This record gives sequence, structure tokens and C-alpha cells, in this order.
Amino acid sequence: MTSGRRRAALPFCLVPLLATGGCGGFQSPLAPAGEQAASIHSLFWLMMAVCGFMYVLVLAGLGVAVVRAWRRRGASPGEPSITPPDEGLNRGLLAWAGLIVVGLTVLIVGSFWVERTIASARARDALEVRVTGHQWWWRIQYRDPATGGWIETANELHLPLGRTTRVSLGASDVIHSFWIPNVAQKLDLIPGRINTIDLTPTRAGWFRGQCAEFCGVQHAHMALDVKIDTAQEFNSWLASQARPAARPADPAASRGFQLVTEGQCAMCHAIRGTPARGRAGPDLTHFGARRSVAAGTLTMSRGAIQGWITQPQAVKPGTMMPPVALSPADADAASRYLMGLK
Ligand code: CUA
Repeated sequence: MTSGRRRAALPFCLVPLLATGGCGGFQSPLAPAGEQAASIHSLFWLMMAVCGFMYVLVLAGLGVAVVRAWRRRGASPGEPSITPPDEGLNRGLLAWAGLIVVGLTVLIVGSFWVERTIASARARDALEVRVTGHQWWWRIQYRDPATGGWIETANELHLPLGRTTRVSLGASDVIHSFWIPNVAQKLDLIPGRINTIDLTPTRAGWFRGQCAEFCGVQHAHMALDVKIDTAQEFNSWLASQARPAARPADPAASRGFQLVTEGQCAMCHAIRGTPARGRAGPDLTHFGARRSVAAGTLTMSRGAIQGWITQPQAVKPGTMMPPVALSPADADAASRYLMGLK
């Protein structure tokens, strides 16, 4: 089971990360793919420049002091090594204090400017999305442009390129944190409260989001697949998500349909257009079209689906998903049906 587990971004790649803008750019604030992340990225480099400059000055000052003391000791061993402060030293201290004030002022102005830029995102004509954090998955709802209702999905967030999406963040159990490093800053999801965050993507592709607040044993397996689509791709994706699930044609998948929509699965999961109407777990209407299983834990495949539904505690110990006792033939049928939910 572990071999199929998806690899999280490596924490060991700081040097290539700085050089290339991230571990492949897949999950990194140093390879911005959104206006908000680009603002934060520029602040990062401003802080790096100011603090790096001060650090080099401190080390240089320390080096000069060490060399001077060493020379003085060598010249006249009997004399005390510390001399009283003179004019030159006072002037140096004054210049140093001035430099610190200037450096801190630059940092304060920079961070204030970035915060204002992020807060004043183009919210007019924004796409409306709701994201709710659960232990340990994401409920995602899109405002349907046709009906004004909500289209529900889970664990995979699609965003249109170049348009601002306003995401309302809530939580059902404990505090989680919504973070797509390439796109924007992080923001907490708090039970009983709605926080909003604006995302304005500037680069198409797949990215990885991650819950950024410890929320229980499977916090690390609370990932979010993020796809930034062109406007056309996004509209057709949203239209396909709005449709109810198709009825399977082949006999094995039909057996799976019966097992999933009339059995244990239907108590917690909804599949629109079928008798399954559970609300406790993720909506599975277009489950087979997603990239991963169990919130970024396994790559989507029939094997992964079978492993997840029959032994969820082996994949994600502590998960709220109970095991489903199925014969190998029934597990295969269920996976055929679920995989076919495109
Ligand atoms: Cu949800 Cu950490």
C-alpha cells in the first residue's frame, strides 16, 4: 500500500528549491502561479536582501574586531585587551543604529504594501466557491452559474486562469488551514466562522495544496489537488461536474452500482442521480475523474480504490472512513463503478 502513496514535497531540497523555484514548482511559494503568491514572493526576496545585507555586515564587523584584538595582543602582551570607547566608535555605533532603523522601515513598508495588495484583489465578477475542512478531507462547492445553486465535489479544486475566485472557508470539526503555496497566502478554516480568501491564478497547471494547521493524526494526509484551467477548460469542467452521475453499462460496474448506492457507502456519501445521499463523507458524483483518492493520499486507480474501501485504516490510520467488508469480486465491481464516475 505504501508504494502507491503519493510523495509529498520533499523538505530536503532547500538548495535546488532556491535555485529552481521549488521542487519542480509543484508545491512552492517560490514559484508563484497566482497574483497573491507573487506579492508574497517579492516580499520574501526583499526580506532576504535586507536581512542578508545586515547579516554580512555583522559578520564583517565581528571579523574586523577579532583580527584587531588578535593583532593588539600580539603587539603588546601586557596591556588590557579592551580600550575605552573613542569618538570613532561612537560614530560607528550611530551609523549602525541608523542602518537598523532604515532596514526595519523598509521591511515594515514592504509588508504593509504586500498586505494591502492582497486585500484589494479584484473581487468584482469573482467566482464563488465554498471550501469546508473536515478531518481529513475538503468539501468543495461551486456556485452554479446556470441555476444559482451549489455544485458539490471534494479534494480537487479547479480554478479559472486570470480570474479571481473568492473562497469562503469554514470547518466542521477542528481548525484547519487552507494553503496552496503557489497561488496565495494561507488562511485558517475555523468552526463557526467564515473566512474569505481571494485567489487570482496566473499560470495553468497542477499544483498541490495542503492543510497547514495540525488537525489530528492524519493532518499530513489532508492534501488538496489544485488544477488551474483556462477559462474554456474550466467552464466545461464545471458543466460536467453539474451533471448527475451516469448509469453504468457493463454488468460488473452495474453490480458495483448496486453495492455502492444501496449498501454501506451510501450512508456517508452522495452520488447525485442515485439513491446515495449521505452527507458525512465526500461527494462521489464524479469521483473517477479526480486525480487522487483519500485527499491526495493515493493516486487514482482501481487498485487504490479497492485498498481504500476495504482497508482504510491501513491507508490512513485514524480515518473516519469505516472498512467495507466486500468479497474480492465485489470490491472489484465497486471499484469499476467508482472509477467509471467521470
Ligand atoms: Cu486539516 Cu491539518
